[in-house]
Amino acid sequence: MYTTLKEVTLRAEELNYTVGSFNAHNLEMLPDMIRAAKEQGAPIIIQTSIDTAKYIGHENIVAVCKTMATNEMVDVVLHLDHARDFDDIKEAIHKGYTSVMFDGSHLPFKENIMKTRAVVEYAHKYGVSVEGELGTIGGTEEGIHVDENDKVYTDPKDAEEFVKATGVDALAIAIGTNHGQYKSKTEVNLPLLKEINAVVDVPLVIHGGTGVNEMDVHELINNGIRKFNVGTELLVTWTKTAKETFGETKVTKSLRHNIIPCNQAVKEIVKHKIGIFMNKEDRTLQLK
Ligand code: 13P
Repeated sequence: MYTTLKEVTLRAEELNYTVGSFNAHNLEMLPDMIRAAKEQGAPIIIQTSIDTAKYIGHENIVAVCKTMATNEMVDVVLHLDHARDFDDIKEAIHKGYTSVMFDGSHLPFKENIMKTRAVVEYAHKYGVSVEGELGTIGGTEEGIHVDENDKVYTDPKDAEEFVKATGVDALAIAIGTNHGQYKSKTEVNLPLLKEINAVVDVPLVIHGGTGVNEMDVHELINNGIRKFNVGTELLVTWTKTAKETFGETKVTKSLRHNIIPCNQAVKEIVKHKIGIFMNKEDRTLQLK
């Protein structure tokens, strides 16, 4: 089913797992990302930046996600990642995205609340879910850089007030993760996550998932993380594979010979991550 962030995270909450939210960077990799979810019997959130949406065409991404959700019988959410401009959000909603992120984390607290609230009121009229953000996630994404020293961790009291005042469906929190960290691993602040989770009753979101140690995922799930963003690992893998295949190819060879291995490599990562995110071992233990 082509569905919303609210729906898939509600189910994840009931069954104690987290939903993988993967950045698609081109149209080529998209079908295999969704096939990976189908093979794992899991829902998937496909997210794009505004620039990727414009490059591929919003309606084209929507068409692929909707068609595959129906034909392959997979729950697919299409989410706009890190939007700061209301017009970009309106465009995504009207062109068929089912979920949007308003990132007001750079704004003063009250202004973040006010603007996020306005997005929620607008999006909910169309049945679209909204993710807000509080605190700052480090690293670089789509050209915006947050220095290690400028990182601000999410304050639990603020988080409680923010969620009540805005009505967001999910909250992205800053607990030490960084965007684009693929050479090393993040030190996640689990005690802070526990404090936030104790006072906030909406699904929590991890950004910068590439840099999160897979050993930490289980604890993150058990403390309310219901949307888990992974982007850079897919991008790096696709590009590295493309360098190899295109580096060796004859120029007359069909493009698909060079592109299929890139998509396959991405598919394997998505499958592997979803396997961890579904927290199956933990649920089997609970059922015993
Ligand atoms: P990474 O690219 O670091 O995996 O982060 C993805 C993300 O959080 C997108 O918002």
